[in-house]
Amino acid sequence: MCGIVGYAGTKPALPVLLDGLARLEYRGYDSAGVAWIENGEIQRTRCQGKLAGLRELLENGKRSECPIGIGHTRWATHGAPTEENAHPHTDCTKSLVVVHNGIIENYYSLREQLKKEGHKFRSETDTEVLAHLIEKHLKDDIIDAVRKTLSEVEGAFAMGVLWKGEPDKLIAARKESPLVLGAGEGENFMASDIPALLPYTREIIFLEDGDLAVLTADGIDITRIDTGEPVNREIKTISWDATAAEKAGFRHFMLKEIYEQPQGVLNTFRGRVIPETGEVDLPEIELADEDIRKISRIVLLACGTSWHAGLVAKYWIEEWAGIPVEVDLASEFRYRRLLVDETVLTVPISQSGETADTLAGLRIAKEKGSPVIAICNVVGSTITRESHGTIYTHAGPEIGVASTKAFTSQLTALYILALFLAQVKDTMSAEERSEKIHALTEVPRLMEKHLEEIHQACTDLSDEFYQYRDFLYLGRHLHFPIALEGALKLKEISYIHAEGYAAGEMKHGPIALIDRNMPVVALVPKDHVYDKMVSNVEEVRSRRGIIIAVAEEGDENVARVAQHIIRVPATTEQSIKPFIFTLPLQLIAYEISFARGCDVDQPRNLAKSVTVE
Ligand code: F6R
Repeated sequence: MCGIVGYAGTKPALPVLLDGLARLEYRGYDSAGVAWIENGEIQRTRCQGKLAGLRELLENGKRSECPIGIGHTRWATHGAPTEENAHPHTDCTKSLVVVHNGIIENYYSLREQLKKEGHKFRSETDTEVLAHLIEKHLKDDIIDAVRKTLSEVEGAFAMGVLWKGEPDKLIAARKESPLVLGAGEGENFMASDIPALLPYTREIIFLEDGDLAVLTADGIDITRIDTGEPVNREIKTISWDATAAEKAGFRHFMLKEIYEQPQGVLNTFRGRVIPETGEVDLPEIELADEDIRKISRIVLLACGTSWHAGLVAKYWIEEWAGIPVEVDLASEFRYRRLLVDETVLTVPISQSGETADTLAGLRIAKEKGSPVIAICNVVGSTITRESHGTIYTHAGPEIGVASTKAFTSQLTALYILALFLAQVKDTMSAEERSEKIHALTEVPRLMEKHLEEIHQACTDLSDEFYQYRDFLYLGRHLHFPIALEGALKLKEISYIHAEGYAAGEMKHGPIALIDRNMPVVALVPKDHVYDKMVSNVEEVRSRRGIIIAVAEEGDENVARVAQHIIRVPATTEQSIKPFIFTLPLQLIAYEISFARGCDVDQPRNLAKSVTVE
């Protein structure tokens, strides 16, 4: 995710940059850096780790009164969290500096080309490509060079550029990554997010995709990147306080993160799939195709919510790639006799990359000769360092203790992994893969479009149900793990007892529990087990159960059996339904927790990263 700031004014820039970065640290804290121009030369100070380290370096080292500068706090996506990879990045001759948030999808080919042309790279980041490309295009017009550069890059960016040739200009541009400008008196600002600017100005301009802005102390000029045409963007006055702004106006980080899921899913598949051809590119899996073809079994290893993501993936991998999958709770896996060898692929799944049980399981599997490819959200975390390769989820930092956007990003990474295995093993035609990829690429739009109405339905429901003591969640097939996840979300943030169950198992015991005091949340997607699921719900209904069905728009049949219905958008492709059905379950848990007055973001007895057994 990363945070960027920029200042062009008359006061010293450094205090403004450091203060802004502190307010953006929630966006990432792998490294921090600032750059400014002093005596006609670019100066920069960077530091691995949190901002405190950068502050200390600056206090003991370079000080400056320079009235222009840029800064960055990093959430690593390409390259480990080291000082070399910290922003701002420069070109070969140190004539310019760049800070960037986003992902340059074609950075690898651009970098190879630039290297051939003699450019020297000093980091592993995608961002450094921007600095060298601008250098390549720069004659005497920096804006023109930035435009040419941005016409060559694919992917997402919010960026700031300083060039020593015009030391009073700060250039900002954005496409698909957030960037706002702040308009002040004799000073102007740029930042990834509003909180960084609130102590200085409440007059905010929201840049649009494809905008390029030039900031000086005296003004802001905005043009389109591609045509150079000037555009007018309205200045809005913000009334939020700083804390509300950090949560982007949401009540809690958890809610903000639920709403960030379309972006998390998009960022995770971006650059890895080609819908038209059905191709999947996962260079992170450093295994030769012939070794992949020899895989006899896959072990998905995880805890909690990450384990639920693994349970969903079992269906995809077995169905599409024909490889048997075991989904193990890491805390169980590590203490049993393991039948794992070099033909078994182990895939630890972890948001934090630090979960002690998952790490221990990974080590045991590795000792037994198993190749280990992690799925993880935190670049450079222990699990990624100890695995042979990592497929990163690009959800950005997750602050709410209850995992939400990390879960749907994990589903995305696993969906792509399943298709990749099918591609290498040739168990699925390119057309079929193309259909699945097309469906996946629709998910962010569907989520975005329907989140608010799903949220409203869940809020209404919570008014009626927040005082119940027990809940049951039922699902079948891909939605059995989603039922488990829904129950986990409710228990952990609202302290209500909730159980997830495979609906077909009800008659083997749990149906005895059904009464008026235990609402049943039934997931009823229109899939190949729809009729079976409806029958299971009818069985509950006939025992006087209270049923809250999550069902697709247009499914009128479900109204016969459920007293309450939450509608989600209908999709024809079955495999993407779990992404959509997850949303109401997160929002029911969130709203019930809020109604009960619980601490949503930091529930009792829990920690975000479980580094002990
Ligand atoms: C639930 C939750 C936990 C984590 C689990 C694993 O909302 O957050 O169940 O999923 O502790 O954590 P990671 O994924 O960091 O290994």
